[in-house]
Amino acid sequence: MFVNNRNGNIVPPTAAYIREAADILKGGGLVAFPTETVYGLGANALDPEAVARIFAAKGRPQDNPLILHVSGISDAAKYGELNRVSETLMHAFWPGALTIVVGARPVVPEVTRAGLDTVALRAPLHPVAMELIRESGMPIAAPSANRSGRPSTTTAGAVADDLGGAVDLILDAGPTRIGLESTVVDATECEVAVLRPGGVTQEMLAQYVDIAEDDETLKYRSPGNLHRHYAPTVPVLLWNAEGGDDDLFAALGAGEWSYLGLVAPPATTRPPCEKVLFRSPEEYARELFACFRRLETSGARTIVAQLPPDCGMGRALRNRLQKASGSGAS
Ligand code: TXA
Ligand code: MG
Repeated sequence: MFVNNRNGNIVPPTAAYIREAADILKGGGLVAFPTETVYGLGANALDPEAVARIFAAKGRPQDNPLILHVSGISDAAKYGELNRVSETLMHAFWPGALTIVVGARPVVPEVTRAGLDTVALRAPLHPVAMELIRESGMPIAAPSANRSGRPSTTTAGAVADDLGGAVDLILDAGPTRIGLESTVVDATECEVAVLRPGGVTQEMLAQYVDIAEDDETLKYRSPGNLHRHYAPTVPVLLWNAEGGDDDLFAALGAGEWSYLGLVAPPATTRPPCEKVLFRSPEEYARELFACFRRLETSGARTIVAQLPPDCGMGRALRNRLQKASGSGAS
């Protein structure tokens, strides 16, 4: 008996639906799929028309290049010029939440790499993503599956809310495990530059390669850094629990604001309409974007979010929070 278990274009990641998704990709269509970080909006990275559909569906600026999702190192070598540094990182962290920028081979269309002479490569660690790459037999270009500028999506429902009919199929494997996007590094030189912090922390990278000092010019090497990002529709205010900036709570009336953080807000505050306390930076990271999406419809006029300590996953969280509040974007 045929069981129709579709919910609109959201389907479970059965072998049959993964085959259907692979066929859609081969035909130039768009498929949203889960990775261990966030959901991706995928298309055939080698088909310029399919890739153009990603930009149109997201409303993404054309100057922002896409990540190629590949099955592993030998696949990566078809699209990028690997060197000792990039191979070291691939052996250490793939499959996983590390995107590695290397010189591009000519087979990668210009639209995919937004005209740069480099390409970003990642082998994801999620059985559905891995199976989709294998079944389709192609590198899958996939940015996060959200409208450009919005928080990334960590559930299939959020993908449907943001992109709905613009996606041919959404493979639903439940909420993603990490919740923030991959770490992006530039491995074209001897010293590796961290372009976007993520779950693979600077401390972990430094065990294998030399890391370039953080400087102002770094952000220009990753076009995505120059765009506003991750923002919910209500303003986000940042609270530094150690920094003595408790004054920001004085302007917030009872029930007018929501709170996210690792520690409770000061006892002197008027009560928020909702208070979410996380047990660890990892849990904060996993829940952040889903909380943003939920709280923007809860009636609160402001979201106050605690800035976590600047180490490990805390560094990636601070980066996303600063961008969401508008203070990290340029
Ligand atoms: O976890 C992730 O990375 C998710 C999942 C789906 O894999 N993808 C994701 O893609 O976050 P996106 O497009 O939202 O972010 C990719 C970032 C952007 O900031 C982009 O500018 C940067 O990677 N990037 C891509 N190609 C680049 C290149 N050749 N040089 C420098 N930065 C690059
Ligand atoms: Mg994104």
